[in-house]
Amino acid sequence: MKEKIEALKESFNAKMGEIKQKDALEQLRVAILGKKGEFTALMKDMKDLQAETRKEVGQIINNVKSEFEAAIAKKAKEIEEAEIAAKVANEWSDISWPETPVQGSIHPLSIVRKELEDLFISMGFDILDGPEMEEEYYNFNALNIPEDHPARDSQDTFWLKNGKLLRSQTSPVQIRGMLAKKPPIKFVCPGKTYRNEAVDASHEHSFHQCEGLVVDKGITVAHLIFTLKQIVSSIFGEEVEIRLRPSFFPFVEPGFELDFKCRICKGNGCSVCKQTGWIEYLGCGMIHPQVLKNCGIDPEIYSGFAFGGGIERLTMMKYGIDDIRHFHAGDLRFLKQF
Ligand code: DAH
Repeated sequence: MKEKIEALKESFNAKMGEIKQKDALEQLRVAILGKKGEFTALMKDMKDLQAETRKEVGQIINNVKSEFEAAIAKKAKEIEEAEIAAKVANEWSDISWPETPVQGSIHPLSIVRKELEDLFISMGFDILDGPEMEEEYYNFNALNIPEDHPARDSQDTFWLKNGKLLRSQTSPVQIRGMLAKKPPIKFVCPGKTYRNEAVDASHEHSFHQCEGLVVDKGITVAHLIFTLKQIVSSIFGEEVEIRLRPSFFPFVEPGFELDFKCRICKGNGCSVCKQTGWIEYLGCGMIHPQVLKNCGIDPEIYSGFAFGGGIERLTMMKYGIDDIRHFHAGDLRFLKQF
């Protein structure tokens, strides 16, 4: 009898050593401790023993049974802990992730930039690109803005340690484009620009401009006005009241500023138009003869117009956005409206 018990112990321990899953543990428990299990069989065998031995063996069987039960409980706990540890290692969840997946949308600035590009392409313009880390020469000097020129003060520039700067306007691309091409020249350059500005409802330190330029024989202010009228009307899908004011930019002569009626307050005055009712949309003018010369173009033969304006303002007007800071805020409630 005792040998049988020893054999049972051995086989139990061997099996337990191999078990790694709950199901297998349960099967073993039933096979040994269950109603029709090994212990029940042992108990049946006891009836053949003499009374005294029966008592002794009964004691042993009970002890072994308790040992087995404890071992099974311990094993069950170990398996459960291992399962949790595996889950922790293999599964993780980002608790900041929205419960339902959010469908992405195109940023409003990208929508308007694309619209501008399509419009200009339909009018025969090329699209040019230029570096955002720009050289002083292209951003200022070649545009008729020498080092001591007060026009530099109005464009608080981010200077870089390598002597270059973050372009404060897209106008340097005028120079790059005119140096790279021969007249007739007709291109626009939408892109990012940077100024060390105090941020408020209508100013950002990082913003977008779209520069445009046409150089050919016989180009006049009339071509400039026609082109800009076309663009403004197309973007808003209807006639918008505009005005041209004489203005000064070192790289154009004459120079103008084009304003249009604020579309948020309809001219009554609000924070976006600084209570004036008008939005300064862009600078423009006839390319200064010296700038043409800087690019190897003879101002006696050719003339041209240029313009450059912010894409943010246009986008704000188009969609009725009253604060420029929304564009960079990354707020899904704002972005998903487009
Ligand atoms: N670059 C000027 C600015 O950022 C805007 C500008 C004015 C661009 C006149 C032009 C222009 O092309 O002709 O303030």
